[in-house]
Amino acid sequence: MDKIIINGGKKLCGQVKISGSKNSALPILFATLLTDDKCKITNVPTLADIKTTVDFLNFIGKPTTKKGSTVIAETSSKLASVAPYDLVRKMRASVLVMGPLLARLGKVDVSLPGGCAIGARPIDIHIEAFKQMGATVEIKQGYIKMSAHKGLKGCDIEFRFASVGATENVLLASVLAKGTTRIINAAKEPEIEDLADVLNKMGAKITGAGTKIITIEGVDKLNGFTHSVIPDRIETATYMIAAAITKGEVSLLNTNSKHLQAVIDKLIEAGLSVKIKDTTINVKWVKELKPVNIKTEIYPGFPTDVQAQWMALMTTIHGSCIIEETVFENRFLHVAELQRFGANLQIDGKKVYVTGVKNLSGAPVMVSDLRAGAALVLAGLFAEGKSKILRIYHLDRGYERLEKKFTKLGASIKRIK
Ligand code: EPZ
Repeated sequence: MDKIIINGGKKLCGQVKISGSKNSALPILFATLLTDDKCKITNVPTLADIKTTVDFLNFIGKPTTKKGSTVIAETSSKLASVAPYDLVRKMRASVLVMGPLLARLGKVDVSLPGGCAIGARPIDIHIEAFKQMGATVEIKQGYIKMSAHKGLKGCDIEFRFASVGATENVLLASVLAKGTTRIINAAKEPEIEDLADVLNKMGAKITGAGTKIITIEGVDKLNGFTHSVIPDRIETATYMIAAAITKGEVSLLNTNSKHLQAVIDKLIEAGLSVKIKDTTINVKWVKELKPVNIKTEIYPGFPTDVQAQWMALMTTIHGSCIIEETVFENRFLHVAELQRFGANLQIDGKKVYVTGVKNLSGAPVMVSDLRAGAALVLAGLFAEGKSKILRIYHLDRGYERLEKKFTKLGASIKRIK
């Protein structure tokens, strides 16, 4: 298995081009199943999860290829209605196949995704919504079998929690349902707006995406589209924190600062200089940073996907702060690994108490999930001496050309096969 070796202590300086958003590209790729027409998606990052999804679409019957950052989904005729365990177990986002296939075929059998390192991550909100739209659901031999032979019917669906995936799945189903669907307490993340943009380009009638209530008027048929995926706000935040933790100066190109205002506000509060011009963010370490508490929340709050990276930064800053996780119930697996670098962290339920230390020392550590991995890389960039990051396949799911981008910024980082 590949590993990453980092020799820490180098100040990062220069420019880094931000890739397209993984979490936006994934539902958009699944949206291609809603039409037989050809679709073209640009600014798609080269990542393991994207490859899994392209393989998935080919399996279902939408011939799809990726060249560079462009994905072409060709015209199709017949789609399969079964998503087997071998595909779903590789990536939880595979459950997004439910909405499009239920809408188009009136049935879908999807393997249940199973456990996850960061929490139980049930899909009850998705299932409940499909039931309300008229689907019958049974669970058999590890599969969720859903059918709606008379078609899905629009209705009011109120989520108990503003789930990103459930909002996407219901959008993907309701665009072809009969009548009007309203999602109440919908997720407001930028990835939802990007998906709604695509669906509207396909001929859907969606209003309110990006707010708590989304209204979808069902249509009979959708057409092909061309779309460029929004920049990855979590990758952007990770490189901003990398500049902060190494006391460097980095310009992030091709990004959208509006999508990560909560992170920018916290970095400024900590004392980092952040300047924004069009699609470029310039971050510069100008003085000793101070500790700043964060509490993860749904958008536009502080993203859970940046919690681990923030913790890595706070471990290196003199003073104390509290990091609270409210979105996932078990997203602190990086704590024990950060402690291997010498971090002073104490977990108390949903909170971690952080006391900054002067130095971290390089160590062999193991990645438990994508963003935990990013936190370990950041700690390794700061730490004195050599760090060995193991199980980096998690990082390959979400950070495009990670070691190349960091090398260009002046880090001593390499991948060993
Ligand atoms: C999306 O996951 C992202 N993944 C996650 O990114 C991100 O952490 C998360 O949203 C929150 O922002 C993709 O977009 C592919 P949720 P998703 O449904 O859709 C509970 C990363 O590192 N819940 O909003 O799965 C759930 O258990 C990743 O890039 C239910 O209880 O997130 C969790 O505690 C990881 N029942 C909370 O809601 C449900 O039916 C948020 O989940 C659905 C969710």
